[in-house]
Amino acid sequence: MKFSNILTSTVSLLVLGATVEGHFSHSRNDAVGPKRPFRPLPPSHLRKRVCHVRSHGDSSYDDAEFILSALKECNHGGKVVFDADKEYTIGTALDLTFLKHIDLEILGRITFTPDTDYWQANSFRHTFQNATTFFQLGGEDVNVYGGGTLDGNGQVWYDLYAEDPLILRPILFGVIGLHGGTIGPLKLRYSPQWYQLVANSTDVLFDGIDISGYSSSENEAKNTDGWDTYRSHNIVIQNSVINNGDDCVSFKPNSSEILVQNLHCNGSHGISVGSLGQYKGEVDIVKNVLVYNISMYNASDMARIKVWPGIDSAMSEDLQGGGGLGAVSNITYDKMYIDNVDWAIEVTQCYGQKNLTLCNEFPSNLTISDVHFRNFYGTTSDKNDPDVGTVVCSSPDVCSDIYAENINVLSPSGTNDFVCTNVDESLLQVNCTSG
Ligand SMILES: *[C@@H]1O[C@H](CO)[C@@H](O)[C@H](O)[C@H]1NC(C)=O
Ligand SMILES: *[C@@H]1O[C@H](CO)[C@@H](O)[C@H](O)[C@H]1NC(C)=O
Ligand SMILES: *[C@@H]1O[C@H](CO)[C@@H](O)[C@H](O)[C@H]1NC(C)=O
Ligand SMILES: *[C@@H]1O[C@H](CO)[C@@H](O)[C@H](O)[C@H]1NC(C)=O
Ligand SMILES: *[C@@H]1O[C@H](CO)[C@@H](O)[C@H](O)[C@H]1NC(C)=O
Ligand SMILES: *[C@@H]1O[C@H](CO)[C@@H](O)[C@H](O)[C@H]1NC(C)=O
Ligand SMILES: *[C@@H]1O[C@H](CO)[C@@H](O)[C@H](O)[C@H]1NC(C)=O
Ligand SMILES: *[C@@H]1O[C@H](CO)[C@@H](O)[C@H](O)[C@H]1NC(C)=O
Ligand SMILES: *[C@@H]1O[C@H](CO)[C@@H](O)[C@H](O)[C@H]1NC(C)=O
Ligand SMILES: *[C@@H]1O[C@H](CO)[C@@H](O)[C@H](O)[C@H]1NC(C)=O
Repeated sequence: MKFSNILTSTVSLLVLGATVEGHFSHSRNDAVGPKRPFRPLPPSHLRKRVCHVRSHGDSSYDDAEFILSALKECNHGGKVVFDADKEYTIGTALDLTFLKHIDLEILGRITFTPDTDYWQANSFRHTFQNATTFFQLGGEDVNVYGGGTLDGNGQVWYDLYAEDPLILRPILFGVIGLHGGTIGPLKLRYSPQWYQLVANSTDVLFDGIDISGYSSSENEAKNTDGWDTYRSHNIVIQNSVINNGDDCVSFKPNSSEILVQNLHCNGSHGISVGSLGQYKGEVDIVKNVLVYNISMYNASDMARIKVWPGIDSAMSEDLQGGGGLGAVSNITYDKMYIDNVDWAIEVTQCYGQKNLTLCNEFPSNLTISDVHFRNFYGTTSDKNDPDVGTVVCSSPDVCSDIYAENINVLSPSGTNDFVCTNVDESLLQVNCTSG
C-alpha cells in the first residue's frame, strides 16, 4: 500500500473565542434515561479545533496514516471529522489509547480491509476468549458519533471461519481502557466477530448504535455479539437496534454497574450474563446490572445467565472451560417484551456440559444470588413448548434469592411451564412443572 506525503489533514482554528461545542459538552447524564446511570457520568470538555480526515478515496489505499495524524493533531480539545462524502479504508491496526478530550465525528463510511492474514497477525490481542480487535480506542473523555458507518468486511471472515474455527476474527469496535466517553449514534456493519468489546473501561455511554450484517454465503456470521463488557464499570447501553446472531449484550467477567435500556434486539441470543467460570481458578464477578425495557425478537433467549460447571466441559472446538470461581449478584431484568424467543428466562450453571449428572456431581464454584426477573410479556417460539423458561442450578448451595414475578409469557400452545432444578421454587412465581 502506498502512502501520500502531503498534508494529512486540515485544521481550522476558530476565530475570536468562538468554540465548537462538543457533541455532549454539558453533561452526558442528561442523555441517559429513563433509568439513571449507577454513578453520574463525567462531563465532556468543550472542543475548540476541527480537523478533517483526508482519504485516498480508493479502497486499495490505506487511510490509517491520515486518521492517525488527524487524531494527533486534534487531540486535547479538538474534533476530528470523517467527512460525509468520503469513504475511508483502514488496513493497519490502530492503537488509539492515547486519546484525551477529543471528538470523532464519523459522517462517512470506514471500511476495514479484508486482508485476513494481516489482521490475524496484527490485530490487538486481549487474551480473554482469544478476543482480538481491529483497533483499540481508549483514554479519557472521547466521544464518537455522527451516524456514519464502520464496516468490518465480515464476509471473507465468515467464510474462512467455516473452514477453520481457530482463526482469530477481529472485533469491529474495541473500547479498551476508556474512561469517560459517549459512543453513538453510529452504524456498525459486518463485524467478523463480536461488534463491540468494552474492556478496562469506566463511565462510557453507548447511545444510538445500529447493528446489522448478515452473511451472503451459506456460512453464517457467527459470534456476532452486540456488546461484550469485560473488566468494566459504570457503562450505559441504550436506544439501540441490534440485528445479529449471538448475544445482543453480554456481561463478561468483572462487569459491574451496567445499565442497559431501550434496546430492540432481533435474531440474537438475548441479554446474557456470562459465560462465567470458564477459566479454572479465576474469579469472575458480575454485579449490579439493570436491564430495562428491551424488545427481543427471533432469539434463543431473552434473559440469560450462563455459568460453567465445576468440571472441564466443551461447548465446541473453540469454546471450552469450567472450574472457575466467583459470583453473579444483584442482576435485574425488568420490562421485557418477547416475540418468537426460545427461552424467556434461561439460567444455567451447567453451561457447556450436556451431562447433567456430571454437572451436579461437580457443582459450579461460581454463585448466583439476588437475581430479579420481573414484568415479562409476550410469546416464546415453539422450540421448547410447553416450556417457556429454565432455571438450572448445579446445586441449591450455589444459587440463592432468584426471584421471578409478573411473568406474562406463553408458549404458542398457551402453556407457561418452567424447568426448575436445584433452585428455591417458592421465590419463582412461575409454573415449575418439570426439572
Ligand atoms: C486490561 O488491563 C490489564 C491490567 O492492566 C491488562 O493485563 C489487560 O491486557 C488489559 N486489557 C484487557 C482487554 O483486559
Ligand atoms: C484460544 O485459541 C487456542 C487455539 O488457537 C485454543 O487452544 C484455546 O483454547 C483458545 N482459548 C480460549 C480461551 O478460547
Ligand atoms: C476480577 O475480580 C476479582 C475480584 O476482585 C479478581 O480476583 C480477578 O482477578 C478479576 N479478574 C480479571 C480478569 O480481572
Ligand atoms: C422502551 O424502548 C423503546 C425503544 O426500543 C422506546 O421506544 C420506548 O419509548 C421505551 N419506553 C420507555 C418507558 O422508555
Ligand atoms: C431479524 O432476524 C431474522 C433472523 O432471525 C432475519 O431473518 C431478519 O432479516 C431480521 N430482521 C431484520 C430487520 O434485520
Ligand atoms: C442493585 O441494583 C440496583 C438496580 O437494579 C441498584 O439500584 C442498587 O443500588 C444495586 N445495589 C447495590 C448494593 O449496589
Ligand atoms: C423476525 O423474523 C421474521 C422471519 O425471519 C421476520 O419476518 C421478522 O421481521 C423478524 N422480526 C423483526 C423484529 O425483525
Ligand atoms: C454422565 O456422567 C456420569 C457421571 O460421571 C456417567 O456415569 C455417565 O456415563 C455420563 N453419561 C454420558 C452419556 O456420558
Ligand atoms: C470447585 O468445585 C469443584 C467441584 O464442585 C471442587 O472439587 C473444587 O474443590 C472447587 N474448587 C475450589 C477452589 O473451590
Ligand atoms: C400454571 O399452569 C396451569 C395450567 O397450564 C395454569 O392453570 C396456571 O394458571 C399456571 N400458573 C401460573 C402461575 O401461571
